[in-house]
Amino acid sequence: MTSQAQTQAEQVSSLRMEEIVSLCARRGFIFQSGEIYGGINGFWDYGPLGVELKNNLKAFWWQRMVREREDVVGIDSAIITHPRTWEASGHLANFSDPMVDCRACKRRFRADQLDGIPPCPAREGTSQHDLTEPREFNLMLQTQIGASTEDAAIAYLRAETCGSIFTDFRRVREVARQRVPFGIAQVGKAFRNEINPRNFTFRSREFEQAEMEFFCHPDASAEWFDHWLEVRLAFHRDLGFAEDRLRTRPHAENELAHYCRRAMDVEYLFPFGWQEIEGIHDRGSYDLAKHAEFSGKDLSILDEATRERFVPAVVETSVGVDRTALAVLCNAYAEESLEGGETRTVMRFEPIVAPIKVAVLPLSKKLGDPAERIATELRRHWNVFYDASGNIGRRYRRQDEVGTPLCLTYDFESQSDGRVTLRDRDSMAQERVALDGLVQHVRKRLEEGH
Ligand code: GAP
Repeated sequence: MTSQAQTQAEQVSSLRMEEIVSLCARRGFIFQSGEIYGGINGFWDYGPLGVELKNNLKAFWWQRMVREREDVVGIDSAIITHPRTWEASGHLANFSDPMVDCRACKRRFRADQLDGIPPCPAREGTSQHDLTEPREFNLMLQTQIGASTEDAAIAYLRAETCGSIFTDFRRVREVARQRVPFGIAQVGKAFRNEINPRNFTFRSREFEQAEMEFFCHPDASAEWFDHWLEVRLAFHRDLGFAEDRLRTRPHAENELAHYCRRAMDVEYLFPFGWQEIEGIHDRGSYDLAKHAEFSGKDLSILDEATRERFVPAVVETSVGVDRTALAVLCNAYAEESLEGGETRTVMRFEPIVAPIKVAVLPLSKKLGDPAERIATELRRHWNVFYDASGNIGRRYRRQDEVGTPLCLTYDFESQSDGRVTLRDRDSMAQERVALDGLVQHVRKRLEEGH
């Protein structure tokens, strides 16, 4: 690609990203945290639609990874764990990025991501930054427990959710009466003091992860790795990611952490390029061995059949919830030219993640009572939006823009024939369906992909 063509492609990409960011703010999916104070870099708030989308995503993950499996159980652990956890895992010593500071404008950048940084506003006669030598910068966010200022009270917000899965391994195995091989899953917040938060929510300082650590015999980890890779790719395909926007990237030998035997990134093609949304790692017995060493507790298990005692190996699946939500938003975004020169913006969410499943629209405000009764009935099953204002075409467009798979219109004929119109978001096709059996019909349409 010539540099000019590359620039054009980058411009197109960043334009689309801007449209997605703007739609997210306008319709209340995601916006800056602390907006009225000018925002806070690397922190984001999810609005009424965003929280529904994210909750749907987490529930779908939980369904696939925990509920549908006999060999995985869930936990919900504290965000601040015992500080020794991070000593044992190596985070306190090694979880760092190289950073450089500009002596003139005092801004800080990642030394390995200097391409495309904004010019220096503080130097005369040049826009070049006056950069220091790279220094390692620990990404753990620190806090203090209690009123004491002594070192003993220093604690850390977890940088990944898996830490407690390892420290809770022994108890969870016992209480859940599980035998190796089995997994422990958790969804929750993680915090990293990223030097350059960027690309909207893609690299944030506070984000959510959904992680599963699968404990198995060290000789079986390669087989389990292949199994979990397939399971996770099926999950991403079910979110609607097409094959040409989803790929796997194995880590090269020099990228692997010293304890990691194999690692595979699952990448999505964002408007800003191919980027990781999930990592699958064969971590060997490193984690349990380290926590056993630091806690002095025996974390090995005895295989009753073979009488072999061993420290289980771990295959990890670690997906970013916010990154996947961003991929879902980018994947769904479409602009279509309609007859008459109108453009419609439509979010083509899979129904499983769509924030609103059905919108109920009375054709006239005079039909409000029966339409509201239908909305109340449907609300027992799904998130339903009721909208009685504006012309019907405009109401359809509003629902298209937030990705509602089905719009239900109650009109004057509905009163006499007991039928309503269901309009499909993607094809815009309409069908007349009976109110009798409506819930089953809507369920079928949503399950079929509407
Ligand atoms: N326990 C392994 C682990 O945390 P990771 O590759 O550092 O591995 C896993 O993180 C996933 O967490 C990533 O694939 C990404 O989706 C998400 N993630 C990591 N850092 C992030 C950040 N700063 N902002 C948003 N998501 C992030």
